[in-house]
Amino acid sequence: MKHDFVAVLDFGAQYAMLIARRVRECNVYCEILPHNVSIEELKRRKVKGIIISGGPASVYDKGAPQADPRLWKSGIPILGICYGTQLMAKALGGQVKPERKKEYGRTELFIDDQTDLFAGFPKQIICWMSHGDSVVKLPKGFKVLAGTKNTPLAAIGNHDRQLYGVQFHPEVVHTERGTEIIKNFVYVVCGCRPTWTTKNFIQGSIKELKETIGKEKILCALSGGVDSSTVSVLVNKAVGKQLTCMFIDQGFMRKNEAKKIVEVFTRNFKINLIHVDASQRFFAKIKGVTDPEEKRHRIGNEFIRVFEEEAKKLGKMPFLAQGTLYPDVIESAVPGLTATTAVRIKTHHNVGGLPKDIKFKLVEPLKKLFKDEVRALGREIGVPDEIISRQPFPGPGLAIRIIGEVTPERVKILQTLDDIVVSEVKKAGLYKELWQSFAVLLPIRTVGVMGDKRTYLNTAAVRAVTSTDAMTADWAKLPYELLDKISNRIINETKEVNRVVYDISSKPPSTIEWE
Ligand code: XMP
Repeated sequence: MKHDFVAVLDFGAQYAMLIARRVRECNVYCEILPHNVSIEELKRRKVKGIIISGGPASVYDKGAPQADPRLWKSGIPILGICYGTQLMAKALGGQVKPERKKEYGRTELFIDDQTDLFAGFPKQIICWMSHGDSVVKLPKGFKVLAGTKNTPLAAIGNHDRQLYGVQFHPEVVHTERGTEIIKNFVYVVCGCRPTWTTKNFIQGSIKELKETIGKEKILCALSGGVDSSTVSVLVNKAVGKQLTCMFIDQGFMRKNEAKKIVEVFTRNFKINLIHVDASQRFFAKIKGVTDPEEKRHRIGNEFIRVFEEEAKKLGKMPFLAQGTLYPDVIESAVPGLTATTAVRIKTHHNVGGLPKDIKFKLVEPLKKLFKDEVRALGREIGVPDEIISRQPFPGPGLAIRIIGEVTPERVKILQTLDDIVVSEVKKAGLYKELWQSFAVLLPIRTVGVMGDKRTYLNTAAVRAVTSTDAMTADWAKLPYELLDKISNRIINETKEVNRVVYDISSKPPSTIEWE
């Protein structure tokens, strides 16, 4: 099925990503394109509407990013947001000026024109403002659609040419009915059909997978996380037993996790699954290592080595399925759109982190999807909820939550601690609200007293954070009763720990994981 397509031109990473997600929530297909994409490319892709994102620049900055100057006359409907509006106004003969007082936060918006963008709206809503510049003179042919106390030209439009601009951010949740503004743009103004649905995606994707893979065999590295699990089940639906999944257990999984994964995939889905228990090799590789980066490197390299050795045993296997997501694709494709800091803080190794010179042809059926879309897809094709709603778990597993040397004994202790933390958080009904919640085993022993005996045992740290993208995170204000329960259980149920501390640092300046 051919989906109607709305493009978001990227003038600032986070903004563009959020807008694209909102458009997709309206069941309209949306992609982020570079800000200077040519008209020819937009026409070739049959774009039905363009949204120009906000961004950190001012239109008067030297070298401020520009759009193709022919964009405004292309006849394609355009919605500018913040910087996008200023860019449009300036290009079409309006005037933009720096505000003396920057407007930021929740603001009342008074709507004058209840057609098109604001069709079905009341006279007044709350919008979210965040800008330093604003349009002070309308371009020819434009009229004011809405204003705030400080920004009289907060929404402007030229109905005939289907050009619109809003100074506030309809994509953020703080703007009341913000999604409806986007809906009005894509449905009413651009005339898009809402065909981008999970069901349609599955149908299209299975058809495509069948065509690509044909009668050949395909391999998939399964970690038990949301992405690799969803890919495995989707590919399995398309080509059945032509798929082999490989699950490499490095010995740093959570309690009973390896067993659970094998069970879910072999029993529920009848997927060919090779379970490689490589724990001894991994333990040997990081014996005596205490440096976090060194640990990560050794685990990452060993993973690749095991994967290659095992794959060789399987004979001719031309394809490899990977759970690459849309944010990974844009981060590597669009310059300036990387959310990762220039300085390497931690080496992230994914189970998908396979060698660069890999001889497989890659099949990446999720590469157009955002994480929440992958979850919806996974649910639809029957991936169990315990996998779908699983909190993120790092590739190197518990090894980077054991500070200092990693030994089988210490992994076992941490598995118990982790199990207590996670099960209590679940019991308190907070698991899905938290980005992550886990235990860390510290290389510190402290003195305690149990019964009337002195003890000298390990210290455990509990970490729980809220976050939307892991780039920043707040330490979670867990209820005291829950912390109390966790601490009591840890001390009563493990013989190895006599002290529990709670991590109250946010990211930045800390990171979520301790190593
Ligand atoms: P940090 O500790 O950098 O972590 O704040 C950010 C998010 O990334 C996860 N993480 C990893 N995920 N492989 C992964 O797949 C890794 O090596 C890795 N290291 C950290 C971490 O759990 C958090 O969600």
